[in-house]
Amino acid sequence: MGAYADFHRRSITDRDAFWTEEARRIDWHRPFDRVLDYSNPPFAKWFVGGQTNLCHNAIDRHLATRGEQPALVYISTETNTEKSYTYRELHTEVNRFAAIIAAQGVGRGDRVLLYMPMIPEAAFAMLACARLGAVHSVVFGGFASASCATRIDDARPKLLITADAGLRGGRAIHYKPLVDEAIRLAKYPPQKVLVVNRGIDKDFKPVPGRDLDYAELARQHATAQVPVTWLESSEPSYILYTSGTTGKPKGVQRDTGGYAVALASSMEHIYCGKPGETMFTTSDVGWVVGHSYIVYGPLIQGMTTILYEGLPTRPDAGIWWKIVADHKATVMFSSPTAIRVLKKQDPAYMAKYDLSSLRHLFLAGEPLDEPTHRWIHDALKVPVIDHYWQTETGWPILSLAPGIEPARVKYGSPGFPVYGYDLRLLRGPDGAEATDQEKGVLAIAPPLPPGCMTTVWGDDERFVKTYFSDFPGKLLYSTFDWGVRDQEGYTFILGRTDDVINVAGHRIGTREIEEAIQAHSNIAEVAVVGVADPLKGQMPLAFAVVKDASKIDTDASRAQQEKEIMAVVDSQLGAIARPSRVLFVTLLPKTRSGKLLRRSLQALAEGRDPGDLTTIEDPAALEQIRGALKS
Ligand code: PRX
Repeated sequence: MGAYADFHRRSITDRDAFWTEEARRIDWHRPFDRVLDYSNPPFAKWFVGGQTNLCHNAIDRHLATRGEQPALVYISTETNTEKSYTYRELHTEVNRFAAIIAAQGVGRGDRVLLYMPMIPEAAFAMLACARLGAVHSVVFGGFASASCATRIDDARPKLLITADAGLRGGRAIHYKPLVDEAIRLAKYPPQKVLVVNRGIDKDFKPVPGRDLDYAELARQHATAQVPVTWLESSEPSYILYTSGTTGKPKGVQRDTGGYAVALASSMEHIYCGKPGETMFTTSDVGWVVGHSYIVYGPLIQGMTTILYEGLPTRPDAGIWWKIVADHKATVMFSSPTAIRVLKKQDPAYMAKYDLSSLRHLFLAGEPLDEPTHRWIHDALKVPVIDHYWQTETGWPILSLAPGIEPARVKYGSPGFPVYGYDLRLLRGPDGAEATDQEKGVLAIAPPLPPGCMTTVWGDDERFVKTYFSDFPGKLLYSTFDWGVRDQEGYTFILGRTDDVINVAGHRIGTREIEEAIQAHSNIAEVAVVGVADPLKGQMPLAFAVVKDASKIDTDASRAQQEKEIMAVVDSQLGAIARPSRVLFVTLLPKTRSGKLLRRSLQALAEGRDPGDLTTIEDPAALEQIRGALKS
């Protein structure tokens, strides 16, 4: 048996010993009594009775040995700023931030919603919440006010932290008005809004009595020291909302101790990042990758982390490689879409920089196509590791683990089950195991390993119903992804089993888009499907039936209606969910029992065979779809 196979086997068959060893990678204020409490399946409690804190592990414990080492380097090609914070400086910033938050009455277990651009204060705020035992919920800055309001009502934060504006490609996105609108829409708005005023929005107007100015409070609390609040391992660290089959996003709840251990462990065995080295993750703090591998993971490991605000192509397509070279990054983490964007640029941009520091490039979030994998692999000449995971898991499910055993990259596959995961590939709802080369649903036999979601925020029942009900009679976590395994054990991901699509690595529920479009007054019915896109992986495409056909009877009015519908999506969800096109039909393909034939619709949109249509109610719907697509 290979070293990795043995490592993986031990993680499943000898959980206690395995995770006791891994748990040594972090500081415990009080040691845990038990590795795992699994007395209430599928709810797992890791490191029971242990007390720890994410902020302490990310900052305080490094002060003695690496206080003067850069902890966080903020690089903005939007404002042309580069600012480095040592661990000691980060400690000061986070203490100050924690004091400001605490002064608003926020403490252990209270929620704080963050709606922030990629600025250092976003990381300070997250770490400050962790320090206080407050539960942060970061909402991606690209989401619209209505999405933000839904999350406010679910998390019911005491405080909301935002900035006047973000920047994208030189264009300002005013955050504060979006927050004002979200608070207007919310049933349970926070009492206070803390605003980091970057001076970008010249019309910035604070709401008297509600909005707090960060700079002013930072002066008041300049030298504040805030003691760490020690949390029991299972106490929540954060909530992060993600899309699913229904229109209502789920609050993925993460614990504290299990997450810290999983991250520390993955930094070693998977990412191979050493203390003192630099990690560059190109995601956003609003996504799970940003939580785990911009903020917490690299800092827990004592690395320098890079927080980059800007596009991969501005000022030119060499910017990321310049950052790698300037900061001698050893680990880089990005997304397939970003690499596809760079692939379209002149390769000379890459050749300009000395990238010899880089040991691995990790890619995740969406399928990595072979041409892109080959291209970046040949260009970098280091292993490019495709790895697969989910917001729910917080760290990789499938990957190579070069820290345990150098492994051969196989194009198209994210590798093997990560240690801790008892992964199954199931042929059907009866839970029968798929054989090699046979397509199945990727499932995890619980307990889910440390670091994974512990429940849906405020809704234990939804956690069980959503994730553990795909295989009746068997308690198994469904990833909602299809997969197939080859004879060597490499697993390949074949797409989602549900209505979730992946646009440029961003996970979006087609139902959410449909619900948003329904908000337009002239929409009778709508279907949204994900259509393959050479750059972004997938793009949403909408088929709409209107109530009043006179509003689409000329080319100009149709274009106008399409524009309006897109604007509705922008305002309900955000531009990231905007369909590439809205095509008008008078009939959608449905079964006789009224179920939308989504797969057929998607197949037609991608120019494939629509498959079995024996259940279709009215075949004329297909002709309409074909006609609309041709137009
Ligand atoms: O469908 C899988 C796809 O993205 C989903 C999870 O997205 P999200 O919650 O945003 O988490 C991303 C964390 C990296 C998965 O269910 N996915 C993620 N990674 C891959 C992938 N599909 C194919 N290959 C991958 N490497």
